[in-house]
Amino acid sequence: MEQILVTGGAGYIGAHTLVELLSSGLAPVVVDNLSRSSHRLLDGVKKITGKDIPFYPVDCTDESGLKDVFSRHPQITGVMHFAAFKSVNESVEQPLLYYRNNVDSVISLLEAMHSAGVHRFIFSSSCTVYGQPEVIPVDEQAPFLKPESPYGATKQMSERILEDAVKAFPRLKVVSLRYFNPIGAHPSGLIGELPLGTPSNLVPYLTQAAIGKRKKLTVFGSDYQTPDGTCLRDFIHVVDLAKAHVSSLKKIDELPNRFEAFNLGTGKPCSVLELIRLFEKETGVPVPHEIGPRRPGDVEKVYADPSKSHRVLDWRTELTVAEALRDAWNWEKEMAHETH
Ligand code: UD1
Repeated sequence: MEQILVTGGAGYIGAHTLVELLSSGLAPVVVDNLSRSSHRLLDGVKKITGKDIPFYPVDCTDESGLKDVFSRHPQITGVMHFAAFKSVNESVEQPLLYYRNNVDSVISLLEAMHSAGVHRFIFSSSCTVYGQPEVIPVDEQAPFLKPESPYGATKQMSERILEDAVKAFPRLKVVSLRYFNPIGAHPSGLIGELPLGTPSNLVPYLTQAAIGKRKKLTVFGSDYQTPDGTCLRDFIHVVDLAKAHVSSLKKIDELPNRFEAFNLGTGKPCSVLELIRLFEKETGVPVPHEIGPRRPGDVEKVYADPSKSHRVLDWRTELTVAEALRDAWNWEKEMAHETH
């Protein structure tokens, strides 16, 4: 059976993708150094699917460790690379850590894939590569602007490395998936986001404030040039995002170009305040919040033009933001239940 190497499979998006791979009849092999994750989500994936997944606690900057995994699994035909650090703030404080981890891992993986004769690579990129785009909704042709953070720079650099690599390795094919704002959890309540310490992303902070783990959510800025003054984002259910990875794998061999980037978003803007209101409406639970100052580095508005993904990957979102918020809330309650 065809196997797919999933780096960062113990993380938030990786774990949701494992479920979708297994339900499409593909067999994942997980590599994760567990530096920002644990076995918790892998256990959840097993509960959902009933399947055991081979797991290797290898760091993706360890080329020989990766080569060893490829040699144990000659059935691997493709790689999905989720393993990366993703905190914008931390990347400002520890840029070298971010460059070392996020950029080195891409290089090591490409080297290991090349020696193993594996040619399909699906990369976790981000809408952060666009910065504050001049035209929104933003499409894949938009230029990369100067990155706001080392984290953003690592995503731009990784894409550049991949574009150069396809020129040098004639069989390599790369799909770079530019995620907008993934939120939510699996509807089973068995896997979801496990933030380390204080969450910096909106939805995990919101659900923690709603359950009483945090005093209140601070809305970062209400004086933006947007309808209600708060930032506009494109929130996408993590299960829809996970499914796009399976669609990409199905289409990768047919793509005319050996490097292709795709936006993964709903195409519908939603403001921070709208999201809070939607959560309250969907769950009936109030979110204690206050308006605070802008957060440095935030872009005012960004949402996707996902038409290329619709057309070429034959993928589109099926779940709503309301469903994502309901699932995120169920997951938060599940975690609270576990710790009591
Ligand atoms: C950013 C990056 C994204 C990256 C992600 C990783 C951009 C446009 N997006 O997402 O590519 O993958 O970080 O973490 O650069 N907010 C609050 N209060 C909070 C937290 C957030 O008001 O406590 C607001 C933010 O100001 C922002 C929105 O909620 O307007 C979303 O924030 P967040 O969830 O952190 O994601 P991004 O910053 O959009």
